Formats: sequence, structure tokens, C-alpha cells
Amino acid sequence: MNYPYQLQSFEAYLAAYQKSIQDPEGFWAEVAENFTWQKKWDRVLEWNFQDPKIEWFKGAQLNMTENCLDRHLATRGNEPAIIWESNDPHEQHRVLTYQELHFKVQQFANVLLNNGVQKGDRVCIYMGMIPELAIATLACARIGAIHSVIFGGFSAQAIADRLEDAGAEFIITCDGAYRGAKAIALKSVIDDALVGNKTIKCVIVCTRTRTPVSMSKGRDVWWEDEIKKVETMGNPKVEPATIDAEDILFILYTSGSTGKPKGVVHTTAGYMVWTNYTFVNTFQYQPGQVHFCTADIGWITGHSYIIYGPLSAGATTLMFEGVPTWPDAGRFWEVVEKFKVDILYTAPTAIRSLMACGLEPVKGKDLSSLKVLGSVGEPINEEAWHWYNEHIGQNRCPIVDTWWQTETGGVMISNLAGITPAKPSYATLPLPGIQPCLVDENGVEIEGNGVNGNLCIKFPWPGMIRSTYNDHERCRQTYFSTYQNLYFTGDGCLRDEEGMYRITGRVDDVLNVSGHRIGTAEVENAINMHACVIESAVVGYPHDIKGQGIFAYVIIEGKNQDLESLQKEIIQKVNEVIGPIAKPDQILFVPGLPKTRSGKIMRRILRKIAEGDISNLGDTSTLLDPSVVDQIIKLAR
Ligand code: WT7
Repeated sequence: MNYPYQLQSFEAYLAAYQKSIQDPEGFWAEVAENFTWQKKWDRVLEWNFQDPKIEWFKGAQLNMTENCLDRHLATRGNEPAIIWESNDPHEQHRVLTYQELHFKVQQFANVLLNNGVQKGDRVCIYMGMIPELAIATLACARIGAIHSVIFGGFSAQAIADRLEDAGAEFIITCDGAYRGAKAIALKSVIDDALVGNKTIKCVIVCTRTRTPVSMSKGRDVWWEDEIKKVETMGNPKVEPATIDAEDILFILYTSGSTGKPKGVVHTTAGYMVWTNYTFVNTFQYQPGQVHFCTADIGWITGHSYIIYGPLSAGATTLMFEGVPTWPDAGRFWEVVEKFKVDILYTAPTAIRSLMACGLEPVKGKDLSSLKVLGSVGEPINEEAWHWYNEHIGQNRCPIVDTWWQTETGGVMISNLAGITPAKPSYATLPLPGIQPCLVDENGVEIEGNGVNGNLCIKFPWPGMIRSTYNDHERCRQTYFSTYQNLYFTGDGCLRDEEGMYRITGRVDDVLNVSGHRIGTAEVENAINMHACVIESAVVGYPHDIKGQGIFAYVIIEGKNQDLESLQKEIIQKVNEVIGPIAKPDQILFVPGLPKTRSGKIMRRILRKIAEGDISNLGDTSTLLDPSVVDQIIKLAR
């Protein structure tokens, strides 16, 4: 496969950018010519940001898997599509060629069909990082079912909420999942999530850990048994279903500033074009290279840059089941050496935690295959950037700092590896098609360079969010109502003298903990479910490894409590309601919270105290009870 739309010089980038702004429809039509369509589009783009209505390639028909699999068979059928490395360094790795993946996806598509899954049905996928997870998502796409992958770290309660919101009828899971030294009993979490559930008809369970599970008769079936049935049928072909351009490909839940996660909706044609275009250009992927994205498929990064971007480009994508620090902190480097990885795409939190382990684990590892490094999920601090550059990239690999979001589907602002300039801690320049702008609180655009503001996007791009599932109004409210006619990202941003963008972090009540998005309201809801808790307020504070840590101020009922065990119980509650990713790093029991006369919690003050910086708490005179601030400061010491 070659990529006529791969930008190979800075001039080519500038020209493409110009064209994408002056004639977006012409620009994207030209890119879209490079895909397989069952029927071409009638209109490249129809949109307004009021409703919002975003329609790309309307009238076109296609199938994502035809683009990810079938079209590569003639040229790359025997090339590896997925290389899988186990959590256990001694377990044999697996390679699935495009031929094999094509076969297995159809085989599992048959399983779905045999179990009554139809086009448009919502299928929840809760699995560990094994090839069957990729097979399951692609099998959904093959028949036009909508997948909703839930990260393996979410709790039963979090899953139950998502199942209900999506009206899911099917679940694909595993007996368990390995993560470092631990085995997580996924099926038993699903069993808990299904207590009281009325919509789920069938649970398909794939064997991984051989953890004992209970199977509910008439509802639960084994993946392996179902595959055998398909084999008995003679493995009938499953032709790629005809899907409309704007039919939903998947839902992915993400946190916002309210208590309830929202189901971000991505549709088929635009998302395909966008993930492919951004993959090929950001990483400058060359045919035959091995691309290693270390994210979990439960997050958007895994959807876009383990599965859809790479596979639609006929690339070799490496899927790793394990964690960077187990059995030791050399694991990533071993994987790079073992598979001669060309592109490594990971998160600043992983880089920082490996950096903290020193250089011993890197020593003696052959990293000479690496050509491009990537960073995603949070701002990368300069120290981590330099460590990554020197010790992993050995000063010869461009680092792409890719800013984007679950809602944007793919990379929005980033340097293009080796093509456009890099600048430590800057995402740098927008990709073609992306029109960023900075606005002040009143929504007035801040023009010129050397300025700071809230980051918005002025014009649609193919991979953008279409809706929030089942609640379009929420989509409008969250992203399109803060500023007239703009998509609001929720991030603060600096544009320097050279016009380069630097993301400064969220400006809303959303935390970024180890590159995972967590709403403060969600954590507060979970904490408040503990019987002894009257009220709580959660803020983020700078954390050396995680980027942000979670600080919870908690008001409890009664005195004479055993505070230490209460802390443990509260953490347990958060584990139960959301999952371990949201557990507070610090809990401070306080007599009150700083509130305005209208009852709004002044989080700015709480953030300052959590940071340990009480020198400048700003104006506290509007508080209902200013003395509460001094009391909290005393307790925080
Ligand atoms: C938020 C989106 C994009 C996939 C992973 C996270 C922050 C993301 C960067 C970056 C600075 C970044 C932003 C954004 N973020 N990438 N390169 N530099 N900040 O997806 O969970 O949807 O979170 O992550 O704050 O809004 P997500």
C-alpha cells in the first residue's frame, strides 16, 4: 500500500493545510478517493454547530472491515496485521496475518450472527488485551453492530451504567485478564454488573486465564464452543455489510464535568478517513514497519491507533497485553527489541514511571529499530521529553506530541514525524483540516501570537464526535454551547510567538490521572455513597508520575470515627463505583468546604491548598464562611 496523501516535506504540509482550509470538501474528497467504497458519497460535508449536525460523505456506503482487511489481501495477505505479545514474557507471541485476521473476523462475525446480533445492536466488549478483543471489535464492524468497549479497569457499577445508557443487548468478555502480576476476574465483574439488568440477552466468554467462572444457562456461552459451531457449519463467509457513511461505528464512554459519563458517538466513513490520514501522516508510517501503541483498546487511543488507523493503512500493529513495569521496568524495551519496533507511541505517565526506574532496564537493549516516538494523553513535561529523546530515541527519532481527545477521533495538533518541527512540551501545529482558535471567557477570539486562551475548533473535521449516545442535547450543551459556533475542547492553550500550540491542561472540572480522564463530580458521587459521608469536593494536584493526583476533601457525619479505616472504606467505595483508576491519592477530613453565598464550591482555593501553595488564595471575601479556609489549611499541614 502506498499513501499518495502522505505529506513528505514541510512545504507539502503547508500546501495541504492551505488547501484544507480553502477547499475542505475538495481536500477530503481527494483523500477519500484512496479508500474502498461500495457507493461514493453525494455530498462531502454538511454541517452546523447549532444542532450540531455533522455529516461527512453523506450518501456513501462502505464497510470499515473491507477497508481494514479485504482490500489488503491481494497485496499484503501474508504480512502480519497483528503481532501480539503476552503479559507473560515466556508465553509464545502470536502473529495474525491479514489473511488470518480476515478469516477470524468472519468466523466470529458468524458467532455474533448465530447469537442474534443484528446491524445497529449495541455490543459491549469488556476484555483484556488479547487478539480476540481486536477480532471482536472488527466482527461487530463487519456486520454493522455498534461496539462499546469498556476498559478492563472499570467496576461492575460503572459497567452497569454504561450498559443501561447504551441499551446493550450483548456482551463479549473473558474469564479473566492478566495485568502484570495480577489476574482480574472479568466475568465475575460482568456477573455483578448484570444484577438487575434487563436488556442483555447473551454474554460470550473467551478463555484467557482459566479463572473459574459461573455461566448462566441460556444467557452465557463460551467463545470457543461458538467457534466450533461455526466450524461445523463450514466457516461460511460473512460479506462486509453495507453501512451508510454516517451509521454509528462505536460508542466510547468518557468522563466530563458532570457525574455521568457520556457515550461519545463516532460514525463510520469520517472516522475511517480521519484515523487513517492522521496515522499515516503523524507517524509517517512506511509499509512494513511495526507500529507499537501501548494504550489499552478500552481507550480511544487504542481504537484509533491500534486497530482502525493502522489496519486501514495495511500496517503491522503490535498489541501488548502487559504493563511497562512487569516483570521489570525493561519490558517495553524488550518488546521493542524482540519485534524490531519502528514506531513507539506511549503516554507521558509511562515515560515518567520508567524514567524513575533509572537507566539500568534500558541498558543493553537494542533500540536501533526505532524511528519515531510518540506521546499522548497529557502534556509531556520537558524532563520526560528529554529522557525519552535521549535514552529511548537515542537522539535520532523525532518525537510527536499528539494532542487530541476521545471526541476528536484522532490526532488534531501534533508535529509530523521528521516533517514539521518539534518543540519540547508543545503539540506544535494543527493537522490539515484542523482550524484551532483561542477564545477568552466571553468567546471573543484572541488573534495573533504569544497569547493564551481556551482552545476551540472552528470547522468540522471528518473524525469529530457526532453525538452523545441517546442524548444529543447533551452533546450540544457540552461541546457547542459554551461558545457560539465553536467546538469547545475544555483545554487551555498557549500559542507562542511562532504560532506553535502548547496545551496547558483542562479548564473544566476534569482530571487527567495517568492519561485517564476522570470527572471530579464522578469521584465525588462515589465518595458520597459512603454512609458516613455528608459531602465531598475533589480536585487535582500535580503528581510526579501520574501527572495529576486526586485530592478529596470530605465532610463526615459524627465525630469519634476511626479515620484511618474510614479512608480505606472510602477508597473501596470509589473502587466499587468507578474502578481503581479513580481512587483518591489523598483524603482530608474537613469540617466544611469553601462555598460562595450561592452554594458553589470554590475549587480554585481547594486546588491551591492541595498543591501546598497557600501564598495567594485570591479573593475569599465572597465566601459564605471565610474561616473555613483557615481551618482546612491547618488540617492540610
Ligand atoms: C484530554 C483528552 C487523546 C487520547 C488520550 C486521551 C489531554 C491529550 C495531550 C497532549 C496535552 C493532552 C487534554 C485532552 N491531552 N493529549 N499531547 N498534550 N494534553 O483522551 O481521555 O479523551 O482526554 O487529554 O486535556 O482534552 P481523553
